[in-house]
Amino acid sequence: MKIYLAPLEGLTDYTLRNPFEEVYGQGKVDKYFTPFISPNSSERFLTKEMRDIDRLNNTNKNVIPQVMTNSSKDFIWTIKKLYEEFGYKEINLNAGCPSGTVVSKGKGSGFLGDLDKMEKFFYETFSNPYIEANNIKISVKTRIGLNDSDHWEDILDIYNKFKLEELIIHPRIRSDFYKNDVKLEAFNLALKKSTNKVVYNGDIFTRRDYLEFIDKFPDCQAVMLGRGLIADPALIDVLKADNPKDYVRDLEYDKERLSKFHQRVLEERLKIMSGDKHAIHRMKEMWCYMEYVLDDKKDVKLVKKSQKMEEYKLAVKVLLNNTNIEEKEHISFWKKH
Ligand SMILES: Cc1cc2nc3c(=O)[nH]c(=O)nc-3n(C[C@H](O)[C@H](O)[C@H](O)COP(=O)(O)O)c2cc1C
Repeated sequence: MKIYLAPLEGLTDYTLRNPFEEVYGQGKVDKYFTPFISPNSSERFLTKEMRDIDRLNNTNKNVIPQVMTNSSKDFIWTIKKLYEEFGYKEINLNAGCPSGTVVSKGKGSGFLGDLDKMEKFFYETFSNPYIEANNIKISVKTRIGLNDSDHWEDILDIYNKFKLEELIIHPRIRSDFYKNDVKLEAFNLALKKSTNKVVYNGDIFTRRDYLEFIDKFPDCQAVMLGRGLIADPALIDVLKADNPKDYVRDLEYDKERLSKFHQRVLEERLKIMSGDKHAIHRMKEMWCYMEYVLDDKKDVKLVKKSQKMEEYKLAVKVLLNNTNIEEKEHISFWKKH
């Protein structure tokens, strides 16, 4: 099974991706997706976007930049720049973001509300001579609809008209955000009908979730995980084991690695974030997921309350001294997104 790390804005930029690869991935993650770049007509990337795609910060070959736009013109200049200046040969389009400001502009999952526009967008992109000549690969990460899933088949029909590198499906509609049950029947339809290779994404948080998934969909060749791998990065060993069901974890070693991973992410973030506040805020975001695999959550409160860097570091030290990692059967994230 191929395993991809999902793009999570605010979490999976290079300051997390690189430590992830160093400490856990070591070749096990088949693709790392960047959080979305949002191009506009200025034809320039933001400093933050530049940093995240800069090859000096992305020594792994398997990093796929994600772009969110509904303008083929902007998509094409972005693809050209990513290819020419940074050497990226595969680009992912975001057709899933549920955020209000994005959807109101007809982007992300908002794109799924105007299928004629979407088809024209793909036509213009795929018939672009530069993209054709350089054989640049384009994949899509999609939801199954905007306000409902009634048009999922129509959406699939459009994707089927083009030669996508792959179609990554998060089987929810926009209003679900990241909660409510995933619609597995919609994914099943895609497995049957899609002429493009499909990748599953959504709510695989634990070994049990993964085993249930592969049991239901034995033909699926690739899955993308987001929150599950942030909460429990060592889950990657289970997913990639020859026999995931019987793979025995060394939870002490996993805790050592969690500590190292945390330390490396913090170091990377401190290199670019001035002031404690921003870096701490970003680290706390990680704990909002990682706390779910601790056997005792009470010391996380101190981590979340800390304001100054020294306070934060001490709180993490206390937390890691007092708690152990547990492999959970089931996780239910509280976060609305
Ligand atoms: C905090 C957060 C940020 C996200 N940012 C992005 C993003 O930049 N691009 C994207 O395609 N999806 C984004 N997503 C969606 C995830 O990539 C993924 O589809 C979602 O979390 C479901 O997968 P999971 O259940 O394995 O976490 C984000 C999700 C969360 C929770």
